[in-house]
Amino acid sequence: MTEKTLIIVKPDGIQRHLAGEIVSRFERKGLKLVAAKFMQVSEKLASELYCVHKGKPFYDGLVKYLSSTPVLLTVWQAQGVISVARKMLGNTFGYDAEPGTIRGDFSSSRGYNLVHGSDSTESAEREIKLFFKSEEIVDYELADEKWLYGKND
Ligand code: RTP
Ligand code: MG
Repeated sequence: MTEKTLIIVKPDGIQRHLAGEIVSRFERKGLKLVAAKFMQVSEKLASELYCVHKGKPFYDGLVKYLSSTPVLLTVWQAQGVISVARKMLGNTFGYDAEPGTIRGDFSSSRGYNLVHGSDSTESAEREIKLFFKSEEIVDYELADEKWLYGKND
């Protein structure tokens, strides 16, 4: 079954003019873009997104960071997309992330790591609902799906 994931280009990604680069990586991988929204996230929504980290030392700073300036919220659909996207993001801290990943190529920071990606099907469903109504997620076919997702049988 194809799954969906929430990818957010965080404030530093927008401020550093990397939104196009980041979206382009997912497009070139052949993942299907099914929703997008550019907005400044409220502290309330940011704290809901990261509620699993409530009480951790970095939580307050994280909520401030995500709500500081606008972000690009995107939803991508493909088989295994949650884990594929997490691999493309790289390890959490830029200085730890492998070259070739988004964080590995563009971040050298701890907290400022450019992108968010859902980490499980449960998180993805919860997170997507925080930002998108069901009618804002578009169901459509890509003309080259046969080549992108086909098997050679
Ligand atoms: P994300 O949720 O944003 O995709 O990141 P992640 O799964 O790789 O990392 P997670 O453990 O969920 O942490 C959420 C975000 O909090 C910031 N952070 N700062 N200063 C710190 O020790 C610290 N630890 C985490 C990062 O922005 C991280 O992406
Ligand atoms: Mg996380």
